[in-house]
Amino acid sequence: MSQNSQTIAATLSALDGWPLLQGPRVRLRGPREEDAEAFFALFGDPRVMRYWSRPPLTERTEAEQLLTRCRDEFAARTALEWIIADENDTAIGSCKLFRLSPPHRRAELGYALHPDHWGRGVAREATTLALDWAFCHLGLHRCDAGIDPDNQASRALLHRLGFVTEGRQRESFFVGDQVTDSELLGLLASDWRGGR
Ligand SMILES: CC(C)(COP(=O)(O)OP(=O)(O)OC[C@H]1O[C@@H](n2cnc3c(N)ncnc32)[C@H](O)[C@@H]1OP(=O)(O)O)[C@@H](O)C(=O)NCCC(=O)NCCS
Repeated sequence: MSQNSQTIAATLSALDGWPLLQGPRVRLRGPREEDAEAFFALFGDPRVMRYWSRPPLTERTEAEQLLTRCRDEFAARTALEWIIADENDTAIGSCKLFRLSPPHRRAELGYALHPDHWGRGVAREATTLALDWAFCHLGLHRCDAGIDPDNQASRALLHRLGFVTEGRQRESFFVGDQVTDSELLGLLASDWRGGR
């Protein structure tokens, strides 16, 4: 491993909890048990799950399982899933760096926001906090994203952040019974620093 990939692994293992990232309107923080209701409202909403690779949650216990998975992935340092919290510290979304790969200094970005907050720049603010941390503190070289090509809102957000569409994987995942292509996007640390 290069010096930098060792630094990434060391930075991840030295974390004693989720980095707290504060923006003007939202903060990214670690998940708590009391976020289960908000997670159920988020991932149980068909509007949020329209382009997701799984159907909406139907039981609150599934939201609790998702929160347990967040903690397990954090413990293994394979993913960092933050809660997007509003000014009252209420969970309104999720922002995730997953498939963390220290040797390749790479991760994938994922996010979801409750529809009550769409269209006000909240996702842009939240993902900017995560990407700033990923590129400027953790030392990632590259961030990937993959979307359903019909997901206009997600593509618009990613392009606004500076991601470039790099290709398309044919019939890559199922949304219910429907097989869907995956549009692949990427953002380099140099793109990010150049765009600031
Ligand atoms: C994708 C998502 C997070 C966007 O959240 P948001 O808070 O509405 O996005 P923002 O307000 O920060 O908008 C970011 C940019 O995208 C644009 N945008 C947002 N929604 C859009 C839409 N439906 N159509 C076209 N552009 C859109 C905005 O205009 C903005 O660009 P601008 O700054 O140039 O004006 C939200 O729609 C969502 O949670 N969707 C469901 C979950 C999902 O699909 N996640 C991604 C899976 S890959």
